[in-house]
Amino acid sequence: TPPVSPFAIAFDAERLTLSPEGPTLTRRMSDLEGLFLDQSAWAESAAGDNPVVYTVTSSPVPEINRELPQSITTIFPGATAGELWMTKGHQHPDHQGEIYLALKGRGGLLMFDGERVEWLDMTPGTIGYIPPGWAHRSVNTGDEPYAFLAVYPGGAGHDYGWVLTHGMGSRAYLDASGSVDLRPYAG
Ligand code: F6R
Ligand code: ZN
Repeated sequence: TPPVSPFAIAFDAERLTLSPEGPTLTRRMSDLEGLFLDQSAWAESAAGDNPVVYTVTSSPVPEINRELPQSITTIFPGATAGELWMTKGHQHPDHQGEIYLALKGRGGLLMFDGERVEWLDMTPGTIGYIPPGWAHRSVNTGDEPYAFLAVYPGGAGHDYGWVLTHGMGSRAYLDASGSVDLRPYAG
């Protein structure tokens, strides 16, 4: 495959759109099976109004080796049995690193290397660095959509099974004062 030619992307910081734009992915509650602690609350929501939990809008850069794709993830505010809405989370099979830049709203970047857990508060302007070998999941901790830009190696791949097997080390809730409450993963 010949490399992509240089090009500019117009980014609308208000509407969080890219132009030109690549594929957009929509993850509904039914796409998040096995991820929330309370499986019956998840099942009820998935079988009910099945809300959109997050979207991922990509630039037109292909996900192949040596390319450097970008995407914008927008997680809607919400919780399922108290557990804050989040991305599925994944590990990169070859343990490649990644950079996130928070754009809008409030969120968190939860990382787990199989033993250690790290949490980064993400507010507009925060750059979150995901080192090689750390599985990563994003969480909306606020009451408006939380959006961030991701830049990652095109050949990184996404291993979603790793999270189903190993978990993410912690789960994110809010305490009575509205602060993030990280609880042991369990389940
Ligand atoms: C790419 C990356 C992000 C996520 C996106 C959705 O490597 O980390 O672009 O893919 O935030 O999360 P997942 O892929 O876990 O559903
Ligand atoms: Zn990633």
